[in-house]
Amino acid sequence: MSSNNKSLATPLPVQNDEGDHGALDEVATLLHQDLIEVEEEIERRLISSVPSVTQIAKHIVMSGGKRIRPILLLLAARALGYTGPRAIFYGAAIEFIHTATLLHDDVIDNAQLRRGRPSCNSIWDNKMSVLVGDFLYCQVSSMIAEDGDLRVLKCVTDATATTTEGEVFEVTKSRDLKLSEQEYYKIIEFKTGMLMSCATQVGAILAGAKPEMENSLCDFGMHLGIAFQLADDVLDYTSVEAEFGKETGVDLKEGKITLPLLHALERCTPEEREVIRLATISASSNNFRRVLEVLKKYGSLNYSMELAKARVAQTQDSLKAVPDSPYREALFKITEYVTQRRR
Ligand code: IPE
Ligand code: IPE
Ligand code: MG
Ligand code: MG
Repeated sequence: MSSNNKSLATPLPVQNDEGDHGALDEVATLLHQDLIEVEEEIERRLISSVPSVTQIAKHIVMSGGKRIRPILLLLAARALGYTGPRAIFYGAAIEFIHTATLLHDDVIDNAQLRRGRPSCNSIWDNKMSVLVGDFLYCQVSSMIAEDGDLRVLKCVTDATATTTEGEVFEVTKSRDLKLSEQEYYKIIEFKTGMLMSCATQVGAILAGAKPEMENSLCDFGMHLGIAFQLADDVLDYTSVEAEFGKETGVDLKEGKITLPLLHALERCTPEEREVIRLATISASSNNFRRVLEVLKKYGSLNYSMELAKARVAQTQDSLKAVPDSPYREALFKITEYVTQRRR
């Protein structure tokens, strides 16, 4: 990447004020014009004749998301030789799906902060968040109908359904200290892995990739999503709120049994188990601190982050089939970013 190119680039079209995001900034430089056009497409599709819809959708969409899913879709398409505008169109569509899941997820998790701003459910209410989330999902259906690609339709609707199933499954397992690691992985594959996998698969479909290549890209997105969520579940305990843009400790408060807790539960004393159990049913900063001590004692946060890194190695394996190019290199950089990120 030339330094000239770099100086032209806005690090990310939409960004919080936290400054440098390293690898993501570099990737955004490579995709500069594409990402500007994704933002333009997003803005066009947010307009509704009901002002509150636009206002609420804008509040979340324009508040500094990392745009990882559009970036993945664009990089996959460009790495496989597709240069046309449909990658921009679908980049905007996949960000809409992601945004809809966030609107709904913050209702489910009773989260007050999103992308460094008060969440929509906290400013307006749950009803508005659910409805505007629905509006965004429907915008995506309408967009795919305009483009008319049934393979993309199948990929996107399946991924959206699976994401929802993952969220439902997670809710049914909240506060269940008997959750198995297998069940945990099912939750994160479903709720996070599938949409990232869909992003890279759509990129491959647009490029007319052969089935084996499409599968490699699918695997890549899935492993990346799993690594991303493993890291997110560690950050939920360790992050600095101002950087993360979300509250710390929401998982514990909501009784979500994530991998760090599972790891500790397998090793801890009955007294420590009771500390964890109480913290999942009664949120307080004291309970959070006590659980954090247990997690630190058993190295559970490091263990989870190590597994995220191992998953990153698998994502890198899936990239072997992709021909060398700056776009492939950028996909590689994103894999490294996933476990280094602070937001
Ligand atoms: C948040 O995703 C939801 C998870 C899968 C953990 P991102 O971390 O990509 O959220 P934004 O779009 O950058 O806000
Ligand atoms: C991430 O769920 C997946 C979806 C939003 C579908 P989380 O609840 O872990 O994500 P954050 O931490 O709220 O972003
Ligand atoms: Mg959440
Ligand atoms: Mg989370």
